[in-house]
Amino acid sequence: MKLLLLGSGGREHALAWKIAQSPKIEKLFIAPGNAGTREVGENVAIKVNDFPAIKQFVVANGIDMVVVGPEDPLVNGVYDFFRDDAELKSVPVIGPSKAGAVLEGSKEFAKGFMQRHHIPTAGYKSITADNLEEGLAFLETLSAPYVLKADGLCAGKGVLILPTLEEARKELKEMLGGMFGQASAKVVIEEFLSGIECSVFVLTDGKSYKILPEAKDYKRIGEGDKGLNTGGMGSVSPVPFADKEWMQKVEDRIIRPTVEGLAAEGIDYKGFIFFGLINVAGNPMVIEYNVRMGDPETESVMLRIKSDLVELFEGVAAGNLAEKTLEMDPRSAVCVMLVSGGYPEAYGKGYPMTGIEAAKAGGSIVFHAGTALDGDTVVTNGGRVIAVSSYGTNKAEALAKSFENAGKIQFEKKYFRSDIGFDL
Ligand code: AMP
Ligand code: GLY
Repeated sequence: MKLLLLGSGGREHALAWKIAQSPKIEKLFIAPGNAGTREVGENVAIKVNDFPAIKQFVVANGIDMVVVGPEDPLVNGVYDFFRDDAELKSVPVIGPSKAGAVLEGSKEFAKGFMQRHHIPTAGYKSITADNLEEGLAFLETLSAPYVLKADGLCAGKGVLILPTLEEARKELKEMLGGMFGQASAKVVIEEFLSGIECSVFVLTDGKSYKILPEAKDYKRIGEGDKGLNTGGMGSVSPVPFADKEWMQKVEDRIIRPTVEGLAAEGIDYKGFIFFGLINVAGNPMVIEYNVRMGDPETESVMLRIKSDLVELFEGVAAGNLAEKTLEMDPRSAVCVMLVSGGYPEAYGKGYPMTGIEAAKAGGSIVFHAGTALDGDTVVTNGGRVIAVSSYGTNKAEALAKSFENAGKIQFEKKYFRSDIGFDL
């Protein structure tokens, strides 16, 4: 099979690494990819939202399947673009339709969906400039801290958690006034939930589903989960509190009602669903849906899938996923993200990197996130630069290996959190 993977981050390098291991793969292309994905496939200089260019490439190269990494092209309708095109409709796209991607593309839709299907989540109210007074009144009924979410996609920046009512009132007005442009013309005000978070992933063909290994990510820049939010500083799988009993609650109360709810609403969904969960006194509740895999969770989760991922994708495409098996690796897997000093605020780019081969020789799997090639030299090309993933018989062993190998990779102003997994 010839497979085209869309995306260019650490998540896509991890997906590409796993896909390339399948004996079914004759050729793997990644568009646009990064300096790491070219180790496992061929990079193609096409942007993920350039659908006409993707079509031309798919037709010219006889691509058999397209797998979508990031949410953007899904929200923009890449699935529907293929389905509705005479030359492309026989090529399956792994990722939901535009109607399904709204689960991530609109917080208001996601909250309404959960309400309709009795899926546990925080209480909320959806507010626009027209019912601002109702929003301010709703805030009065809540207790601190206050959660405000821009309805639309904001590259992970659209959630504000505010310690006082004053700040919540002020920020609500600013969001509605265009703080995140059109994405915050509507704002979801939510009840604050207190607990520890866990990311659960499923792959679905719209009827049945397979639950992938769960993971926990670390979003803050500083040790002890302090400081600014980032695109993710590391991840750990498995998550100890996500034991059999807890995962059964997740499946019964959240996963099955979601997959059945999508089908009941006539939403075409063949792809990943990412459940951002929080454990509130032993009960899982949904913080958010995403319509793709998580980053940096994928850089741990892919290590723990033993089965052929491409065979599972074939089951998704053919609608016979129920007949496939998913086998997990019992070992622990972790990922430690190396970032560029200054990130998530201003940081430099183009710093030459050394030690990647030494880190691999030391037993880690190195996934590129923000790198580029300058001639033959790998240089930094983003805030989150490279993920050092490792296996271990337990979390401590896996982390020790990642930290040791993270120390071997050098670039100017390198920073990483040395406390990933500290709270588990
Ligand atoms: P999101 O972009 O929806 O993932 O939100 C970003 C982060 O904000 C989440 O990972 C949580 O840590 C936090 N968060 C979002 N909603 C809530 C909530 N209702 N209660 C507590 N924390 C929340
Ligand atoms: N790790 C969280 C996300 O991918 O959105």
